[in-house]
Amino acid sequence: MSFSPASIKSKLPRVGTTIFTTMSTLAQEVGAVNLGQGFPDFDCDPRLLDMLNAAARAGHNQYPPMAGVLALRQAVADKVNELYDASYDPVNEITITAGATQAIQTALTAIVHPGDEVIIFEPVYDSYDPVIRMNGGTPIYARLPFPDFRPDFAALRALITPKTRAIIINTPHNPTATLWSRDELNQLALILRDTNIVLISDEVYEHMVFDGVRHQSVTSIPDLAERAFVISSFGKTYHVTGWKIAYCLAARELMVEFRKAHQFIVFTVHTPSQHALANYMALRTHETLPEFYQAKRDYFLAQVAPTKLAWSRAPATYFALASYAHLDAYNQLSDVEFALKLARENGVVCIPLSAFYSNGEDNRVVRFCFAKKEQTLALAVDRLKTL
Ligand SMILES: Cc1ncc(COP(=O)(O)O)c(C=O)c1O
Repeated sequence: MSFSPASIKSKLPRVGTTIFTTMSTLAQEVGAVNLGQGFPDFDCDPRLLDMLNAAARAGHNQYPPMAGVLALRQAVADKVNELYDASYDPVNEITITAGATQAIQTALTAIVHPGDEVIIFEPVYDSYDPVIRMNGGTPIYARLPFPDFRPDFAALRALITPKTRAIIINTPHNPTATLWSRDELNQLALILRDTNIVLISDEVYEHMVFDGVRHQSVTSIPDLAERAFVISSFGKTYHVTGWKIAYCLAARELMVEFRKAHQFIVFTVHTPSQHALANYMALRTHETLPEFYQAKRDYFLAQVAPTKLAWSRAPATYFALASYAHLDAYNQLSDVEFALKLARENGVVCIPLSAFYSNGEDNRVVRFCFAKKEQTLALAVDRLKTL
């Protein structure tokens, strides 16, 4: 008898090739401008590359401490203290991870047991649901209702049961480019107050908030911070998504459990990048990021204004949403069909918003990423005008 791979019971039977892969492959096949997946098409600061090279040349090439290079954890603690008036001990309360994706996976693995429920808000980033399931948990879907995407706290309260182990929020939010207000975080704190529910706060876009608005971090609200894993990504902030390096903040007892899982998932993270980032953080370039991305947003939205699509204002992140619901020539198409047509016939790749819903909710809206060089955006705009 030979081995039958089919005998393996899939842990993720419903997961196939994602729309992100499909759209990126299509972009290459048809030579379309790729404003689909969320990553920059420009390089990072050359000083960061020099620091990476210097760190490797200086011999920082063996395993660093399990929780990360202390100088980097200290730099993160200083930044968080300065921005959010929050105090995290770099020794016990900060861990460097292989991207935010691993931090989310590790936090969930540390706390979710079979039968637990984890509430997530849709439209939702695609990694949360499968990781909850891989740990034997059940994702419970709250909604950020279209078109404003504001949390509905009465509906959230109704979803909480004795089985609720955790809630995941994401602010600023991918894919809707919205962000939670302080008042909304306070309302969440009220709901969680007399519970043992853990909060996982995905804040990877914390430095991409525009128009003079300040990001409201869970770290700055003590009632939330005491029960929270707060996650941010160096990849997003410093234009190095391929380095896959991020961090997680949590109160000491939560972090003990996080690290138990972390040490057997990756143990630790690429050493030279950590030294490079520790040095680079002293240059405080995160302070110029809102201005940098706001200029891209303003350029892109001004240029696309004459197109037939209806654009949302994008107060945060590097995504902008566009609706075609009002266009009779197109609104019979599902958002997936529309995105495929836009790629094949107009040469621009975007992501249909239904990809972020468990039930395929389709409001005739697509997402564009404007973290691109001006010439890339200009080419995309010319092509969008052919719609
Ligand atoms: C909301 C959200 N969380 C997490 C991630 C993953 O970040 P990283 O590349 O650091 O794993 C992304 C990347 O697109 C994201 O949009």
